[in-house]
Amino acid sequence: MILPIVAYGSPMLRKVCDDITPDYGDLKKLLDDMWETLYNSNGVGLAAPQINKPIRLFLVDTVQIVADFNEEDKKEYPNEEPIKQVFINARKIEDTGDMWTYNEGCLSIPKVREDIRRQQKVRIAYMDENFKEHEAVFHGITARVIQHEYDHIEGKLFIDYLSPLKKRLAKKKLDDISKGKVRTDYRMLFSK
Ligand code: NI
Repeated sequence: MILPIVAYGSPMLRKVCDDITPDYGDLKKLLDDMWETLYNSNGVGLAAPQINKPIRLFLVDTVQIVADFNEEDKKEYPNEEPIKQVFINARKIEDTGDMWTYNEGCLSIPKVREDIRRQQKVRIAYMDENFKEHEAVFHGITARVIQHEYDHIEGKLFIDYLSPLKKRLAKKKLDDISKGKVRTDYRMLFSK
């Protein structure tokens, strides 16, 4: 089932999310719905608060984006290892490596894209859908998506990294989104 995506302006997107336990509701169905929602909106990552659940759960699928690399992208990201992975109860251990810029967007903030600087690598502890514990380092675009989705379960959004000037420039668009004045080809949930 495709779920509506919580739009910018909702307090849900500002919550520090809680861990879940293996007896959490119908997790299999929730994950199926989240994958379906992600693909329906052509996203590369989706976090639970974006579907109105304040829990530490997000999905990342960078397989397609890497498969679509052109020659220039391949040169720029030579060691890209795509993943399709569920992250449960994730705790970021550290961001490492040089800062780099990537043009980010977010399904909750449609039609806003901004160059955001983050570090190249992320070390993260998490559980998979079977609650098996993992710790791993990711890099490149995959790290970027994980960092973005991890921020969601900490109540942070990519626009929080904008300079005061860029934030002022984006304000009208953000206000419009929070008032429901935006058109998307996926269903959204507005708080006002
Ligand atoms: Ni996002």
